[in-house]
This record gives sequence, C-alpha cells and structure tokens, in this order.
Amino acid sequence: MSQPLLTLDFLDTPAAPAAADHQPAQDVRVSPATRTGRQRKLYIESYGCQMNFSDSEIVSSILFEEGFDTTEQLADADLVLLNTCSIREKAEQTVRMRLSQINSHKKRNPGLLVGVLGCMAERLKSKFLEEEKLVDLVVGPDAYRDLPNLIREVDGGQKAVNVLLSRDETYADITPVRLNSNGITAFVSIMRGCDNMCSFCVVPFTRGRERSRDAHSIVQECRDLVSQGYKEVTLLGQNVDSYKWTSEDGQEFVNFAQLLERVALISPELRVRFSTSHPKDITDEVLHTMGKYENICKYIHLPAQSGNSRVLKLMNRTYDRPWYEERVQAIRRILGEDCAISTDMISGFCSETEEEHQETLSLIDFVQYDMGYNFFYSERPGTLAARKLADDIPLEVKKRRLQEVIDRQQLHARARYARMVGRVHRVLVEGRSKRSEEQLSGRNSQNQVVIFPKGTAQKGDYVNVLVTSTTGAALLGDIV
Ligand code: SAH
Ligand code: SF4
Ligand code: F3S
Repeated sequence: MSQPLLTLDFLDTPAAPAAADHQPAQDVRVSPATRTGRQRKLYIESYGCQMNFSDSEIVSSILFEEGFDTTEQLADADLVLLNTCSIREKAEQTVRMRLSQINSHKKRNPGLLVGVLGCMAERLKSKFLEEEKLVDLVVGPDAYRDLPNLIREVDGGQKAVNVLLSRDETYADITPVRLNSNGITAFVSIMRGCDNMCSFCVVPFTRGRERSRDAHSIVQECRDLVSQGYKEVTLLGQNVDSYKWTSEDGQEFVNFAQLLERVALISPELRVRFSTSHPKDITDEVLHTMGKYENICKYIHLPAQSGNSRVLKLMNRTYDRPWYEERVQAIRRILGEDCAISTDMISGFCSETEEEHQETLSLIDFVQYDMGYNFFYSERPGTLAARKLADDIPLEVKKRRLQEVIDRQQLHARARYARMVGRVHRVLVEGRSKRSEEQLSGRNSQNQVVIFPKGTAQKGDYVNVLVTSTTGAALLGDIV
C-alpha cells in the first residue's frame, strides 16, 4: 500500500500524477524535530508507502521512551534510521544511494549509529550487514519493539539484527508520535501484512501475514485524535476490506464496514478516509456504509493493475476484468457518479501483449479514473513471477506502454476535475497554499485539491467553496 496519494506533500502539486515510477516508492520523508530535552538525537528518513511513514511514528514513539528526540538535521544525529521500501528495484537503488552518502558522513563521525528498518531490511536481512559495512542495525517491520535492546547491543559495539515476522504484532498499544502531520489529518494503521500473494509483489515477504488490529484500540486512537483537534483520519492497510477482528472471548466480531461505521460515528466533524481497497474484497456493505455517512469521504483507491483478464490471472489478482467492472458499477450505483476512483496500473508485466495493453487503456476509459499511480513492471527477487515467469517485455516497450497509460489516465483526470467546476464543495482547510500566502489549500470529499483566497478561514475549518476553474490538477474557487 502504498498510497501517499492522500498526503499533504501532494497538496498543490498535480494530483493527477504526471510522472511514473517516482510516485509512492520514491517519496521520502524526513521526520520533523521534537525538542523535549532528551539526551540523544534520532534522524529518521522514511521511504515507500504510507504504512512506512506511519511505522516511523511508532518507531519514534518507542525511541522517545528510550531517551531520543527526533532531529531534522542529519548533522545533529546520534542515530540515523532509514525506513526502507522494496516495492520496485528503483526504490531500493534510492536507499542504497542514500546509504552511501550517510556512510561518508559516518566516516567523519565515527560515533554515529546507522540502522536500516522496513521492507528492505526484511528482504535482505543480515545480508545487509555484509553488503553495507557501515550499517550497525537491521530491523524488520514487526520487530520495532525490540529496538531499545538492539540499540543497547550496538552501543556495546556489536551489530544487531532482528527481522522476525510476527502473526500478531499490531503495535495497537503504542501511541504514535505524529511526525507526518499538519495537526489536522492523521493516519491510523488498522492492519498489517498481506496474505494475497500477487505474483509481482514483494509485500507479503517483507510484511508477513495479514493481521487486524483490535477495533477498540483503533476507535480509541481516533477519539484521541479528535480531542486533540484532528479533523480527518485515514485508515491504513494493504487490503482494508479484508479487515476482520474478533474479541478474545469470541463475543464480538467487526468487519471493515462495521469498523468504518464505528469511526464515522465518533464525530460528524471527523472525516474518514481509507486505503487500500482490493477489488476482490470490496463489498456492497462497505459502499452502503460510505453512502450512509456524509463524513466518510467519497473516494476509493481501487488498484486494477491491468485491464486484461489473462494478465490479471498471471498476476494472481484473483479477479478478472468483468468482476472489476462490476465493482465499479456497484460504486456508481450505490454512491453515484461523483465518487472518485483511483487505480494503480503495472505496464509491461510478463508476456503482456500489445492487445492486452490496449485493454488496460480501455479499462481506463471505462472507469474514467480521477487519479492513477502507474508503474512499469520491476521484477522482485523471490516473488512468484520472478520464479515462474519471464520478465520478457523490453524496457523501452514497458516505458512506452506506461506513458500511454499515464496519458490516457490524465485525460480522464482532467475531465473529472472539469466536471466539478461551477459547483460548491465542502473543503477541509489543511493549510496555506504553496503558491501564495493569501491562498489556502484543502481537499474536497473526492480528495481533489481545492485552492481559494483565505478570507477569515483557518487551518482545520470546513468551508464551502464555489469552484470557478481548474488547472487540471487542482480546483480554484472562492469561499461562499
Ligand atoms: N496493496 C495494494 C498495493 C500495494 S503496492 C494493492 O493490492 O493494491 C503499491 C503498488 O505498487 C501496487 O498496486 C502495484 O501497482 C505497484 N507494484 C507492486 N509491485 C510492483 C512491481 N514488482 N513492479 C511494479 N509495480 C509494482
Ligand atoms: Fe502486494 Fe497484492 Fe498484497 Fe497489494 S494485495 S500488497 S499488491 S500482494
Ligand atoms: Fe510499503 Fe514499500 Fe514495504 S510500498 S509495504 S514500504 S515494500
């Protein structure tokens, strides 16, 4: 999952992405400073998806208890952690390049500790220590509670590794230090891991088995956020529609639709978003729950990956094109034309023919996506596809098909923006527009960016904005 599409970094930037393989996985965050007078300083940089950004908040919380403040300056750090992503080869290359920069910094500061967390740590395990000699610490996504012990080992002059995956770790009791937040919108992890085994995907190997977090702890975290002034939560998981939690005594069962409802009921002033929905699992019950509550945003990230049924089968997505089209029709039937839908597409998957690629384009025409995150196929070691299928589409062909996918998708994104002109939108103000001090920026329910003169409105307010024009990637208007 990978969807930074809901984050502030994308405010005011083309929401209908122009670029291809440098979207989610290449996004990088440096955690901002906390200054509470702690003894040691942690510098943490996060790559990849929203789950990783959210995990860095958990890591910071664990290390805060251990006497670490965070710093934004690498030069001030006692401990540098890179929370890494393996989703495509390029994501790993980015981290390797960053490590070599950090290593030259370490040569000048021999006391500096360097650790690698996240998916690349899990994929490469202790091999990392052999390949990157200056790394002291390798910790997988389910082992963050062990960080204090591991750091003590490193302080004692050892190298330390913990990449054990867990069947039940959800960090449910750890209150994240909100590092990625503007004080208005927050991310709440509701599950971890993935059991789907899509043939191209490394996530099941790096994140382990799917498990759902205690529903009460999720609702409590959202309540706490509301009491701190937050106005929007995004419930996160690789496959939120397969959320299922049963209480220890077996008396209480909560599915995703029910969880959504519980969170929506906390306050009508709290917007609720979620990501990612798997087309095989999204139910009419979820769609009806979305329809029932105004504060559940009308936006669904529903990655198709391909428009061709044979390719979908090879990808082990477990749905075919007619199934996907039917789910889109259900969204339109239950939530209407205004509900935004976005996708991820992979171009040039093993043996994809030109005709099959054309079917991806025709699916884009069928759905008329509001947004898309599109990639060319990158073989990942150990996955089903790497073991069983030939990565046989030449890079130029992959890139050309990808560009066609992006172009087609942008055509529809622009049209979807254009149809919003002339209407009044309820917008949650998230801050100043990047373009001007005098303009504010926020999003409508459909996750489209809306920019308008600030008047008396403030961050965290809901305002009604009459949209008068569009740049094709944002809506422009005035408060009414
Ligand atoms: N759980 C989400 C996806 C998480 S990964 C889902 O099932 O939809 C985010 C996106 O990265 C995927 O949707 C896919 O489009 C892309 N991706 C994953 N593995 C890839 C690979 N090997 N090459 C190219 N893109 C890949
Ligand atoms: Fe990867 Fe598929 Fe799981 Fe998404 S659902 S994380 S693409 S294996
Ligand atoms: Fe996320 Fe990348 Fe891991 S997309 S789950 S950080 S492989």
